[in-house]
Amino acid sequence: MKMATKRRLHGPAIWLCLLLALPVSVSVWAQDEGMAILKSECSSCHDLSGPAPTTLKGLWAREAPDLFYAGIKYKQNWLEAWLQKPQRIRPAGMFYANHIKAGEDGDVIDESTLKPHIALSADQAHEVSEALMTLKSNSDLIVKGEYKPGKISPTMGELMFDKFRGCLACHEIEPGYGGLAGPEVFTVAKRLQEDYLISYMRNPQAWDPKIFMPNKHLKARDLQKFVHYFRGLSEEKF
Ligand code: HEC
Ligand code: HEC
Repeated sequence: MKMATKRRLHGPAIWLCLLLALPVSVSVWAQDEGMAILKSECSSCHDLSGPAPTTLKGLWAREAPDLFYAGIKYKQNWLEAWLQKPQRIRPAGMFYANHIKAGEDGDVIDESTLKPHIALSADQAHEVSEALMTLKSNSDLIVKGEYKPGKISPTMGELMFDKFRGCLACHEIEPGYGGLAGPEVFTVAKRLQEDYLISYMRNPQAWDPKIFMPNKHLKARDLQKFVHYFRGLSEEKF
């Protein structure tokens, strides 16, 4: 009799435990699968463990963006979608000097030197994005919740970005308009976490010691305004 009662009690309890553990183990499994893909398919170009280059030679030799702080940099939904259908983010590649040539009206991109990015299946992209979100070096540079959503008029945002701060010299604010040395910023709010954007713009060299984006010593207020501006740009259709 006693045994039977015990079994009746334990049965459902064990199933309940298994059910509760299931989502956790499925996501751990996805992370492991994703990490295996990262190591075999991606690490030849991307650095997964850091640190960032500390010499100019190292910077010029870098083939792809560092991913060892992916979990505090990217928005996961963007990662998952982009990995299935990658589109160019840096108009002239990782190091623009390797991909521009002289044209009639100044520098033009030498498209023949730019290669398309590897694309993943939906399942792989999910697994890889799960794994990337676990890479969290440099967390000490992030102030969680520092960005407070707000608005800036597009005209004012553009004035700041172009005339006041000279950012347009290196970044495009719409396809084909702006500099070629840095990543496009009209998609940056879709791609990157807001608190990361603030931290990076406050001190790019804290993230990437040799990067040539100048530290403009932006005030806290202006950092917020730039993120408002990027969020506005990301809603526009180009
Ligand atoms: C042949 C080199 C190469 C390989 C292999 C490669 N990538 Fe990339 N990856 C790049 C380059 C170059 C860029 C920059 C593209 C751009 O700016 O348009 C990039 C960009 C990215 C980005 C966007 C990062 C950012 O900050 O803009 C992600 C995410 C990414 N790769 C993930 C992966 C994953 C995951 C794999 C493996 C499945 C992989 N890459 C394999 C070269 C590579
Ligand atoms: C001399 C060229 C240059 C100037 C001027 C410049 N940047 Fe950058 N910026 C860069 C480079 C290079 C990167 C990093 C490239 C990379 O990660 O591949 C970058 C990265 C960024 C990023 C992160 C984008 C991403 O996709 O990872 C933001 C945001 C940004 N810059 C904003 C600004 C703002 C705001 C200004 C003006 C205050 C500015 N930049 C001025 C070259 C420049």
